[in-house]
This record gives sequence, structure tokens and C-alpha cells, in this order.
Amino acid sequence: MKFKKKILCIGAGYVGAPSMAMIAYKCPDYRVTVVDINHERIDAWNSSQLPVYEPGLERIVKETRGKNLFFSKDIANQIKDNDIIFVSVNTPTKTYGAGADMAADLQYWEKTARQILKYSQSSKIVIEKSTLPVKTALAMEKILSSAKGRIKFEVLSNPEFMAEGTAINDLENPDRVLIGSHETKSGLKARRELMGIYARWIPLKKIITSNLWSSELSKLVANAFLAQRVSSINSISALCEKTEADITEVARAVGMDSRIGNKFLKAGIGFGGSCFKKDILNLVYLCSYYGLKDVASYWESVVKINQYQQERFIANILNNMFGTLAGKKICVLGFAFKADTSDTRESPAIYISQQLLAEHAEIIISDPRALKNAAMELSGIEGNIKYVEDTYRAAAGCHALVILTDWDLYRRLDFRKIYRSMVKPAFLFDGRNIIDHKKCFSIGFNVYPIGKKALTHL
Ligand SMILES: NC(=O)c1ccc[n+]([C@@H]2O[C@H](COP(=O)([O-])OP(=O)(O)OC[C@H]3O[C@@H](n4cnc5c(N)ncnc54)[C@H](O)[C@@H]3O)[C@@H](O)[C@H]2O)c1
Repeated sequence: MKFKKKILCIGAGYVGAPSMAMIAYKCPDYRVTVVDINHERIDAWNSSQLPVYEPGLERIVKETRGKNLFFSKDIANQIKDNDIIFVSVNTPTKTYGAGADMAADLQYWEKTARQILKYSQSSKIVIEKSTLPVKTALAMEKILSSAKGRIKFEVLSNPEFMAEGTAINDLENPDRVLIGSHETKSGLKARRELMGIYARWIPLKKIITSNLWSSELSKLVANAFLAQRVSSINSISALCEKTEADITEVARAVGMDSRIGNKFLKAGIGFGGSCFKKDILNLVYLCSYYGLKDVASYWESVVKINQYQQERFIANILNNMFGTLAGKKICVLGFAFKADTSDTRESPAIYISQQLLAEHAEIIISDPRALKNAAMELSGIEGNIKYVEDTYRAAAGCHALVILTDWDLYRRLDFRKIYRSMVKPAFLFDGRNIIDHKKCFSIGFNVYPIGKKALTHL
């Protein structure tokens, strides 16, 4: 079949593969190829066991793979063969040298730019999909413009706003698609080309454009605002616990103000995932770099509150279980950083599990999708850890249940059955405020929600 357009994506991760699967699904006349240096990952995308769990993802991959969606290891030839290249490689926080623990590590990004330069034999549109510090496109352009001859590269910014757990729905019905470009003739032409792809299924009024730097910065700012809301409500949950105010009631009253809105006002053990913390730190670093110390420390406090909330949660467990966890069995319900994903990167469950182990508790970790990743996160950590998928088996014989992920299945558990199988007094720490606390209390549990009065029989 002759395809109308040929699109490549470099980076077959949580963003690259699902977003390209959506393009392939919506545009059957385009050929979409995804490449990665991680060959195991490419093999997994070509197998029946996809490397990423997302509701709805398997269906669209199965429908398009081998027809107009391809996963390949041949980076060189794919660069040569495609004229539109998305770059969706990882941009983690730098762990070394200048800007360590703050700035984005752009080594993968730069290597990709050099690969594109090395293998290109014709002009191309290169699209930043990774989240990047503002002005990265300038560095990209400098590398790419070192090409000799007539090959030209036009760099666009098209940050991805999808959220894991709802990625497919977000990609299919996004709030907006943002395309940043230079406002030159060739920049605007490339921008129209990319708009044409999204316009196949997204209304034009939702496809917004801006200059390159606004586009790069908007993604960092969107994540910073989302994380800030989580930290804001979490900080108030600490005050609620001291004053007998109830965080759910406060959030409802505050969220009904249309200027504030009711989304992202759920108190819990804090945000996780590969993006929020790294993107805020990146913003903090940028502000410091430009000499904006007060702005930097304002945003840094969002990360500090997130850490504080997890420390508070652990202290609460320890204090209420008579000051010692040594030898006690704690059932950790949920390890993914949020529901409906297998992703455990930066999950609060990592720190909380480490602290429980440091207190010499025995932990039994249960999660419907993330046990493999959980075992990887905790590999090399000393302590007594078991991984049990079935929630009832995991909880049996435990002193406490600790809910760390808002999986829907935890709302529907038979807590009476679980209570019967546990050591008494049985404790329940609901780090996500997702279960019926009064009901669990009436069953016999000592219940400790976030930002609400504890319900205890002790
Ligand atoms: N995960 C999210 O929810 C999300 C949402 C929006 C934006 N983002 C951003 O998107 C980017 C990618 O995130 P992700 O979660 O998909 O990361 P990821 O780690 O899951 O995937 C990145 C992939 O890029 C590959 N890679 C690295 N260097 C390469 C190279 N030179 N050539 C080919 N492949 C290479 C890696 O092997 C990896 O498989 C990041 O900048 C992230 O901040 C992530």
C-alpha cells in the first residue's frame, strides 16, 4: 500500500508508543513507525505482552500493528526513510555535575539530534514531544543546522499533555493540542503540516499554536500547576487532621467556586510518576539559572510538601501502631503511582515501602498490574518483602492494610472477609481516601484516612 505520509517516532515509551498508536489508528493512510535503542522494549511492543498497561491501548495497537503501525530497531534506516520525526525520548533529572538533582538530563535528547543529523539524507520536520527546558529547540537547531548542503530541519514543539491511566482517552479527546514553531515562512509551513495530522480527528479550535518557547514552557507550567494543586490540598489535609475539619468537605466547598474548579483536589499521599517532580525541579532550575531566586523557591516548596506528606503518612502509621513496626506484617495495597497504569516511576509507594522496611516491618505488596515493576523498584533493598497479586491472600495474617494506589478494585473489596483474616487489632491506613471508612470502622478496623478524623476502637 502506498501511504500518504510517513511518520517516525524516536522513543517507544509511555508517551511515544501510545501517541503514535493513536495517530496510526486515526490515520490509516499514514505509515507510523516507532524506534527505540531498547531492543527488549521493541520486542515487547511486537509481542502479545505489551510493555505498558493502559486501558484501551492493547485494542488500538492490535488493530494497527503490522498494517500502518510498526515497531522497529533500525533507527538509521528509519530516520533516512521518514520526513516527519517525533522525538519522545526520556528527559530525566540530571544526577551528576552542574544542576544535579534539578536540571533535565538532556543526553538522550542530544544523542537523538545527532543521530537525526547523521542519518538524514533529506530535509525533515523534527518535533519535540519530550518535555524539555525552555530553549531546548535552540540547541537542537544548532546541532541540526551543522548539516552541510541543502538538507534543512524545521524544529517544532508539540508537548504531550496526556496522563497515564487515561492516556488513550486523552489522546483521542485532548483538552488541547499545542504546536509551537518559529513564526517564519518555513516554521509556519511545518506547523500547518503537523496541524493537518491532528486535524484528522481533533477539532481545529482545540489545536492551538504559539511560538516555540511558549510551547516548551507551557508543558512545564501545566505540570507545575497540577502538582501545586495536589500539594495545596495535601498541606490543608495536615491542618484538617489537627482541627477535626474534614478534607473532603473542605475540597467540595472550595472546588465549587468556579474560579477554582473541583478537579485535582483529592488529598492523598502525594503525587508520583516520572513527570511532576522532574518537571518542577526543571522549572526551579530554570528560574535559578535566570536569577529568579524567589520564583524558584516558590515552586520548590511544591516538591517539599509532597515529600512532607509521605513522611507524615509513615509517622502516622508508626505512632498509631504503638511506636514499633518491627516484625509486624503490613499489606501494601497498590504500588503503581496511580490507578490504571503499571508505571511505578517515582511512586510514593517506593519511599513508603522503604520506610516500612527500615522499621523492620515485613511487607506484602499487592497490585493488579504493577508487581513486576514494584520488584524492580525495590530490588537490592534489604528486608522481608513478598509480592502477592491476590488482595485477600496478601492481607491474610497482616497487622495493617496500607492503601497507596487508588485502584477501583480496592473500593469493592470484601473488608469483612479481610478483617477476619487479619491480626487484631487490625489497622487500615487509607492513603488515597477511597474506601468507606465508616463501614470499615463498624467491621472492626481502626481506620486512619488522610485529612479526616481517625475512627478507632483503641
Ligand atoms: N509518561 C508520561 O505520562 C508523560 C506525559 C507527557 C510527557 N512526557 C514526557 O515524554 C518524554 C518521554 O517520557 P516516557 O514516559 O515515554 O519515557 P520512557 O522512559 O518510557 O520512554 C523513553 C524511551 O526513549 C528511548 N530512548 C532514549 N534515547 C534514545 C535514542 N537515542 N534513540 C532511540 N530511543 C531512545 C528509551 O530507551 C525509552 O524507551 C519525557 O520527556 C517525559 O517528560 C511523559
